[in-house]
Amino acid sequence: MEFAEHLKSSVDIVRVVGEYVRLKRSGAGPRYTGLCPFHSEKTASFSVHSTHQFYKCFGCGAGGDVIKFIMEIERLTFWEALKYLAERHGIPLPKRNDLADEEARQRGGIFEMHELALKIYRDQLFSPAGSDAREYLKRRGLSRPTAEEFSLGLSERGGQSLVRVFEKQGFSHEDMEASGLVLRRTDGSGFYDRFRGRLMFPIHSESGKVIAFGGRALGEGDEPKYLNSSETSIYRKSHVLYNLNRARKALQEAGFSILVEGYMDVIGVFAAGIHNVVATCGTALTSFQVRSLRRHASELVLNFDPDAAGANATEKYIPILIEEGMKLRILQLSGGLDPDEYIKEHGPDAYLDALTKAGGYFHWLADRARARVDRNTPDGTVAIWQTLLPAIQKMPDKIMRLAVVDDLAGYMKMEKSVVLNEVRRSVSGRGGQVSKRQEVLPDPNEVLLLHAMLDSPEARAEIVPVLHQSSVVQRFASRAIFETILRLIEAGETPSYSSVEARLPEPEKERLAALVFADDTLSRDFTVEQAVACIRKLASGERGARRDELRERIRDAERAGDLNTALQLMQALSELERA
Ligand code: CTP
Ligand code: MN
Repeated sequence: MEFAEHLKSSVDIVRVVGEYVRLKRSGAGPRYTGLCPFHSEKTASFSVHSTHQFYKCFGCGAGGDVIKFIMEIERLTFWEALKYLAERHGIPLPKRNDLADEEARQRGGIFEMHELALKIYRDQLFSPAGSDAREYLKRRGLSRPTAEEFSLGLSERGGQSLVRVFEKQGFSHEDMEASGLVLRRTDGSGFYDRFRGRLMFPIHSESGKVIAFGGRALGEGDEPKYLNSSETSIYRKSHVLYNLNRARKALQEAGFSILVEGYMDVIGVFAAGIHNVVATCGTALTSFQVRSLRRHASELVLNFDPDAAGANATEKYIPILIEEGMKLRILQLSGGLDPDEYIKEHGPDAYLDALTKAGGYFHWLADRARARVDRNTPDGTVAIWQTLLPAIQKMPDKIMRLAVVDDLAGYMKMEKSVVLNEVRRSVSGRGGQVSKRQEVLPDPNEVLLLHAMLDSPEARAEIVPVLHQSSVVQRFASRAIFETILRLIEAGETPSYSSVEARLPEPEKERLAALVFADDTLSRDFTVEQAVACIRKLASGERGARRDELRERIRDAERAGDLNTALQLMQALSELERA
């Protein structure tokens, strides 16, 4: 790892990338742009940052440091990329074993710590101290054999049980911290367990190794309801599905998977004898996860909670699923019940029956759209089609697309030729390429503040106390980024783009890149006073002004019929409102 850092500080990413991509400097700033080498495009959405030494494509999402670039473009492993760069830049290379062994050794330790944690948690659940938690399971209708099948456990409130065992087993503090299972006290006085007083759900890799945990609060009103493991060198949230290890065989036999929202839903469905069920682990569904399901079964039934959040997630995931060629049906259970509750109330047979009857996704979309707008007005009809088109456009197969149009035109009692024309027009407009990703629209105050924190020790010295005093960071759209920076500073480290990026989950990495590239003029000239003023503006009414501006732009985009832009802006707006 050490050597990789040394290498990165000795080579210039702009020069390296420049050997593969014609880069143009934009103005006198740190940004260079060019056509992305990782997907085909006509306008440049690929950027390289000379100060922070990373690249990012806002078209296909590719991004990383110079080593990652070489790995991807030359299709090399990490080690091979190091070697390649070192040789080209005359940097002496350490022996392979030093590097490979260190990484493998640490990963091995992290796997062991997870095994140990699972045992400690499980013993705690079935010890006298676990009686309240066992009572809770009973109340929720979860039997002991099921708890054992899922290796459920309990983390003790004191927060020392893992730390003690890990120390006794001789794990180094560095490895303990890298496991994500224990945290370092901010005052440096030692370590404590990340999960305390929670019902523990082990998360397994597809091959069945424990790689993470989800922890549910036991008390009513304890926040957060679920606390999940952070990403580590053995756990990539965006790739893992809860229960895939147990569901694999059943997926193949049934020919379809059931995707539900939560750990408890998975367990409820599984315990009812229906084993082809999985969930994400508290993150948004990704195409990696869809692909790992598709390897086993080409059909999927999406069965989320019947509340607004569940319906919104369903709508959001439909394009991801069909883009990966998944045959998709939607199950929305009656009575406002989630899968777990439904089975408790009506039994497994009723659930199986509902599964069989679940309809195609486009009927679900059309129903949803019809409930929202008046189909009898021309505007209403347009609005309905606009919600359906993105999903239809994503269908990889032309014949399938036409069949759906046929079906939908009948379903909505519309002229088929009109619908066909509309679909043809929109499909030819997408250029057959990777669809444009949703770019985050950053708040200019946050942009300036971020640059001040990354670039200027003086500004940092002024800003950090102000941020600590007020709770304003909580309201930032890029809260996770600023909190990470503050934590780094607390730990006595100088925050840099790469150190911050390394600690962020996937969607936040994207946001960080968007912020850093947001505006070159902002990033170069600012005074400490300006930076501090940004905090004030963020704390006060700026948010309202920005909301109004976004609403205005959404209306414009809708009027212009630019659905993609409108959707992007809506996403920005909902992020703003959530923050
Ligand atoms: N989740 C999370 N963090 C939260 C809330 C939810 O990560 N603060 C994730 C968990 O993976 C959870 C899923 O979202 O399993 C669904 O949330 P929810 O419906 O609230 O939980 P259930 O699993 O249904 O659990 P319960 O029935 O105990 O409420
Ligand atoms: Mn739920």
